Amino acid sequence: MHKLILFVVLLFVISSCFALGNAEGTWDCPQCGRKGNTDNYCENCAHPSPTPTPDLSSETAAAETAIIAAKGEKVKSGVSMPTDSLQRWNEDGKNMEKMLNEAGFEPVVQYASNDVSIQLKQIETMIDDGAKVLIIAAIDASSLRQALDKAAEKGCKVIAYDRLLYDNVHVDYYVTFSNFKVGVVQGEFVEKALDLANTEGPFTIEFTAGEPCDNNAGLFFSGAMSVLKKYIEEGKVVVISGQTEFADVATPSWKSENAQMRAEKILSTYYADGRKLDAWVCSNDTTAYGITNALEANYDIWTYGWPIITGQDCDKANVRNMIAGKQAMSVFKDTRTLAAQAVKIAGQILKGEEVDVNDRETYDNNKKVVPSFLCDPVIGTAENYKELLIDSGYYTEDDLK
Ligand code: BGC
Repeated sequence: MHKLILFVVLLFVISSCFALGNAEGTWDCPQCGRKGNTDNYCENCAHPSPTPTPDLSSETAAAETAIIAAKGEKVKSGVSMPTDSLQRWNEDGKNMEKMLNEAGFEPVVQYASNDVSIQLKQIETMIDDGAKVLIIAAIDASSLRQALDKAAEKGCKVIAYDRLLYDNVHVDYYVTFSNFKVGVVQGEFVEKALDLANTEGPFTIEFTAGEPCDNNAGLFFSGAMSVLKKYIEEGKVVVISGQTEFADVATPSWKSENAQMRAEKILSTYYADGRKLDAWVCSNDTTAYGITNALEANYDIWTYGWPIITGQDCDKANVRNMIAGKQAMSVFKDTRTLAAQAVKIAGQILKGEEVDVNDRETYDNNKKVVPSFLCDPVIGTAENYKELLIDSGYYTEDDLK
């Protein structure tokens, strides 16, 4: 046993020395001429280094893990979620805590109250406390650069969770549901429900998107627009408020209250004369919830019935709304699947195994294309919620009462 520990310590020391030697190498950019770059990408124009620094931190982490495991201890890991005030991040956090424990890690899970400075501090503390792998769903895609640099210095690997981390090369992996596809699914649902391809229209639609600092928000919106834009251009679909740009329809912090306030303004300005609304494309469930509340109080549902409202996440409150006929659909992104994938990757990194990714092209974070694993989103409705959510053990019947 002592010999084994000695061997892994030696391995660790050798790979640490290597890592140190490489970190000191500098290079001049052949594209823009910037001198003394220290990263694998030019710090001015992001041109890749002609002789990239080999990524040894995985080996370092694996060697450290071997030492920890040889001592019979668990490997520290950190999970940083944006907030505990939205249902989904609570589910994600709980799932990962359980799965990381089962996989032999010692996890710390923290929620950052949607405050960027809190998230930064929490992550830095996790690194200082010896985390060897971090799983992060960022509040603001570009705000954690300092922490990511620190993680790399300490040989701690970073997995971006659900939301891609931007503008830093030290993002090792990304696990997510295909975000553009989520928007496409929402757009196609409306296209089908209104039979846009075969009917004349015109139909009236409004849009609500998410928080602008969340990279996913733009992707959801673009995905839905990629289906519906042509109908708007043809005049088959009319956005009465005229608000069709992401910046106009975004919702600060994804909050229901913010979405509701904007919807109330739109309804009182453009629909108070008794105009019918056919659909409200909402990027997720928290915003859909706000829109539903606004419509309930400010729109003639008795006469027209509910417009088609889309959502995402299958939050409990929204599934109840679907069952009650208020919301037409949600996109189910099984947080158990995502959490399991993140934990699987964490394990593979630390064992030095090949990491399971299925996309090496799509997610460019301005510094590198981040190797990603994309899970598939599924449509949830009042028709299939039992099979999808209850039979699969995601919710109990009581959760939805
Ligand atoms: C997630 C959505 C979630 C939203 C608000 C997005 O980044 O992908 O699932 O509804 O954040 O929390």
